[in-house]
Amino acid sequence: MINIAIDGPAGAGKSTIAKLLSKKLGIIYLDTGAMYRTVALKAVKSGIDTKDADALGEMVKDINIEIKFDQDGQRIFLDNEDVTDQIRTKEISIASSDVAVVPAVRLKMVELQRRIASQNSVVMDGRDIGTYVLPNADFKFFLTASLEERANRRFSEMREKNPDITFEEVYKDIEYRDKNDSSRQFAPLKKAEDAIEIDTTKMTIDEVVNRITGVIGNELLRQDR
Ligand code: CDP
Repeated sequence: MINIAIDGPAGAGKSTIAKLLSKKLGIIYLDTGAMYRTVALKAVKSGIDTKDADALGEMVKDINIEIKFDQDGQRIFLDNEDVTDQIRTKEISIASSDVAVVPAVRLKMVELQRRIASQNSVVMDGRDIGTYVLPNADFKFFLTASLEERANRRFSEMREKNPDITFEEVYKDIEYRDKNDSSRQFAPLKKAEDAIEIDTTKMTIDEVVNRITGVIGNELLRQDR
């Protein structure tokens, strides 16, 4: 069994890289951000204030989130409804960062994340995987890129589905979440001391994947000797 943690801010390329890596290694990819997005979706649908810690704590007590893994990655279900596509809006991005501040929400999600990692070889991406969820992961990477570049990437991605979105809006969303995710008290976005940091600003996707598989391959070869 192997556990690989990939952390970093929005738009650093985590999910693209993690997906490719999981395919190469033939193991599953768990997108933990989707879980916080799903909690946010439930709050919004239920009319719960996404900054109301008590109400969110109550809400997650019996929340029913299920993840199914297939060839193309994961599908996420809220109360038996596939919400994989619904959670990708700008509103849910911002709301997910707000609900992710709440310790009761995090504890509930982390429980599920650790269970999956204990039963499967997995590439897991998020904000606190290397520091909090899987402190003993076999490999830890921290991906970064400049805010401008991350906003550019996310803008081109979102524009395909939502032609009305502006660069400004995307930039502001990412800037807000960077600040919110890094400054929260409980399990903030932070590089683990033993994580390898990769600045992807000027790198292609292939270059990042090769860099990571290089690190993993060398280490596994070293252990074999
Ligand atoms: O895909 P993107 O990087 O835009 O965000 P995401 O990974 O889907 O995560 C959405 C939000 O969930 C983040 O802004 C964080 O506030 C929160 N999150 C977290 O707190 N911890 C994680 N392990 C993953 C996501």
